[in-house]
Amino acid sequence: MVNTKVELCGVELKNPVITASGTFGFGREYGEYFPLSKLGGICTKGLTLNKKDGNKGIRIYETAGGLLNSIGLQNPGVDNFIQEELPFMKKQGTVILANVGGSTIDEYLKSIEKLNETSIDIIELNISCPNVREGGMAFGIKTETAYKVVSEVKDVCKKPLIVKLSPNAKNIVQMAETCEKAGADGLSLINTFSGMAIDIKVRKPIFENVIAGLSGPCIKPIALRMVYEVSKAVDIPIIGIGGIVDYRDAIEFIMAGAYAIQVGSGNFIKPDICLDIIHGIEKFMEDEKIKSIEEIRGIIGRD
Ligand SMILES: Cc1cc2nc3c(=O)[nH]c(=O)nc-3n(C[C@H](O)[C@H](O)[C@H](O)COP(=O)(O)O)c2cc1C
Repeated sequence: MVNTKVELCGVELKNPVITASGTFGFGREYGEYFPLSKLGGICTKGLTLNKKDGNKGIRIYETAGGLLNSIGLQNPGVDNFIQEELPFMKKQGTVILANVGGSTIDEYLKSIEKLNETSIDIIELNISCPNVREGGMAFGIKTETAYKVVSEVKDVCKKPLIVKLSPNAKNIVQMAETCEKAGADGLSLINTFSGMAIDIKVRKPIFENVIAGLSGPCIKPIALRMVYEVSKAVDIPIIGIGGIVDYRDAIEFIMAGAYAIQVGSGNFIKPDICLDIIHGIEKFMEDEKIKSIEEIRGIIGRD
């Protein structure tokens, strides 16, 4: 048997495969397709301090090689999550990451303080949410605002803090370095790219908010390049995300420098796709006589 264990910010994962935020709910529905205990980890839907109903109109739209979404962070709120969902998740025998969103720094801090008191293993901070105090520009676009939110969250956060980066940042390497300086224990990248689609018959955008988030196989080469560049620039662990749909994709991200990977849109193609990816990684390691994930991590570009 090969050893697929990885360590992420002091937390041990049985394998590097984590489900990505917003594509796996809290795991309940997927548990009908495979034992969730097989996963390296589950990342929750983005949580906000208060319940959110999400956006009106169409929320998901398929494109060639990808998916556009405009969910609007629909979620039950942190308190409801802690009472209703976390007990179920903790019983699954896998690592739990809580993805946290917010539209003001104060909102982030209040959510983190509540999650500090729970058995959550890792916080994943989503800094792609619009900053309502600064006119709706996402926290993760400008390095100054990212520094402020990450350093303030770090001051109160008692859990390992992973900051999730947006590919829409002006310079993702500078953004990663800024978050590392602000105290992030790890980084996850990438969130969705800004995109749009138009219904030509009615001559209107598909989405009420016009702009939506693009994910899926079409973003993979760009995500891989970003993970590669960021991994060479920072000393903290990285989770690679973007268009991963099979074990080859996962291995590519690991070779580019990722400690673990997340699978998002792929879960909508095949609900047990993560199981295929885990088995594929094991088989690849056996065939290639790779004893541990560390052996191949970041081998691209290593001197
Ligand atoms: C329907 C949907 C909902 C998402 N919701 C969230 C969210 O709540 N928080 C977050 O950080 N990312 C969210 N994401 C982004 C994914 O976690 C992931 O970063 C992105 O989809 C790229 O990975 P993929 O190409 O494997 O889907 C969402 C993505 C999709 C498709």
